[in-house]
Amino acid sequence: MQVDHIDISDLPLLNTDLEVDGGFPSAVEAFREKVSAADCFLFASPEYNYSISGPLKNALDWASRPPNCWGDRAAAILSASGGSGGSRSQYHIRQVGLGLDIHFINKPEMFTKTHQPPKKFDDGGNLIDQETKEQLRKVLLSLQAFTLRLQGKPANSQQQGIN
Ligand SMILES: Cc1cc2nc3c(=O)[nH]c(=O)nc-3n(C[C@H](O)[C@H](O)[C@H](O)COP(=O)(O)O)c2cc1C
Repeated sequence: MQVDHIDISDLPLLNTDLEVDGGFPSAVEAFREKVSAADCFLFASPEYNYSISGPLKNALDWASRPPNCWGDRAAAILSASGGSGGSRSQYHIRQVGLGLDIHFINKPEMFTKTHQPPKKFDDGGNLIDQETKEQLRKVLLSLQAFTLRLQGKPANSQQQGIN
């Protein structure tokens, strides 16, 4: 799998007054093009006040403006947060995704409790915990399998035994 990181920090706060004759600000246009071209989506987010982070919601909203760029693609969610590992944010992302016609994998779910030992990330932000890496591998294989299924393509042999 090739995972492209999409930087959402350049996106302005959503304001439909910025849409002119069906066009969007340049950063939004570039973002929408990347979303439209993706085979599937891997959302990675912290949990903010029991919910989805504001910047991620802003990005979801910009690419939802007609024509919706998210539709009919598979997605998975990762979160790194405190007590619940971000589960509350993940269920809100799933709820928003319903309206956007995103098809989330059901399992495995992955909630990374960053404030509990063992240490999950090094000082450079790299994932170092083996168990967490294995969870991530399973999420990615499940996402790949569901993406190929939606696209009507044959499954990858590595996916057997993942649930
Ligand atoms: C405004 C704000 C609200 C937060 N609310 C929650 C929360 O409700 N639940 C939780 O587990 N962590 C919460 N956190 C902690 C973040 O999830 C924590 O920052 C995250 O684990 C680390 O990611 P970051 O370094 O990208 O912020 C909050 C952090 C911020 C800044």
